[in-house]
Amino acid sequence: MRELTKKLKEQSALITGANTGIGKAVAVALANEGANVVINYVSHPELAAGVVDEIKFNGGVAIALQADVSKEDQVQAMFQEMYEQFGTIDILVNNAGLQKDSSIEHMTLADWQLVIDVNLTGQFLCAREAIKEFLRRGIVAERSCAAGKIICMSSVHEVIPWGGHVNYAASKGGIMQLMKSMAQELAPKKIRVNSIAPGAIQTQINRNAWETPQALQSLLTLIPYNRIGQPEDIGKCAAWLASDEADYITGATIFVDGGMTLYPGFSTNG
Ligand SMILES: NC(=O)c1ccc[n+]([C@@H]2O[C@H](COP(=O)([O-])OP(=O)(O)OC[C@H]3O[C@@H](n4cnc5c(N)ncnc54)[C@H](O)[C@@H]3O)[C@@H](O)[C@H]2O)c1
Repeated sequence: MRELTKKLKEQSALITGANTGIGKAVAVALANEGANVVINYVSHPELAAGVVDEIKFNGGVAIALQADVSKEDQVQAMFQEMYEQFGTIDILVNNAGLQKDSSIEHMTLADWQLVIDVNLTGQFLCAREAIKEFLRRGIVAERSCAAGKIICMSSVHEVIPWGGHVNYAASKGGIMQLMKSMAQELAPKKIRVNSIAPGAIQTQINRNAWETPQALQSLLTLIPYNRIGQPEDIGKCAAWLASDEADYITGATIFVDGGMTLYPGFSTNG
């Protein structure tokens, strides 16, 4: 009976950067809703294997595929391998991302380019492959009302400027327009494209913001809801957004941030 209530039953999903942090939690959440999931990773195959094992242990279906999302040939090979194993794709979660921080006067072109290549170009390359398959296959009504769903992992920094991280903020601002433009272009084809913009989620990417009590206290001044987010907060949102329960939502960014984008500094009149 429980099987029937799973929101993503028999759908195939690819989650980039899914061997750690938010990507891992999204993969587990989608698998819990019945999706067959591809765990993409670029390094640490043992962590990817651990996520696959965890999902299989809970009765799900998962495989791990290596690809650097910023490399066109590797992305295309990964999608081909996915189609050989799962037949098609219904859901893409563009999650892979990184930071390479420095003040702008010390930022090298290589550090700028790496972040743009992985965070923004990587999302374009993966979206393009998924879209080709969504358009080729069209709607399969038994699985979903939509021909395909893309979720872009953005950040509160698609709207909050971030000094010392201009490459990262620019990549996330770029994701906002990439997502909205794809959503506008593809809505008539019944392809939904949305973003999730996490606030501060406790993962390795921002370890220095929470690993000492002082750092955490300072971080909490930016979060009205007064707790750091957990990867599962994003996983739950992604599973719902990918499902037909969210069928009328496209071109939207959902902020999952405990109120970080509510300008908390103004709560005492600024
Ligand atoms: N943690 C936060 O507070 C937070 C906030 C806003 C947005 N985000 C976004 O969430 C996403 C996941 O970050 P996280 O917090 O889980 O950190 P994380 O470092 O645990 O995860 C990032 C993942 O991306 C992978 N990755 C990096 N370069 C890659 C490449 N070239 N090809 C494929 N995979 C690659 C990493 O191996 C890793 O698995 C990122 O896009 C990040 O910008 C995180």
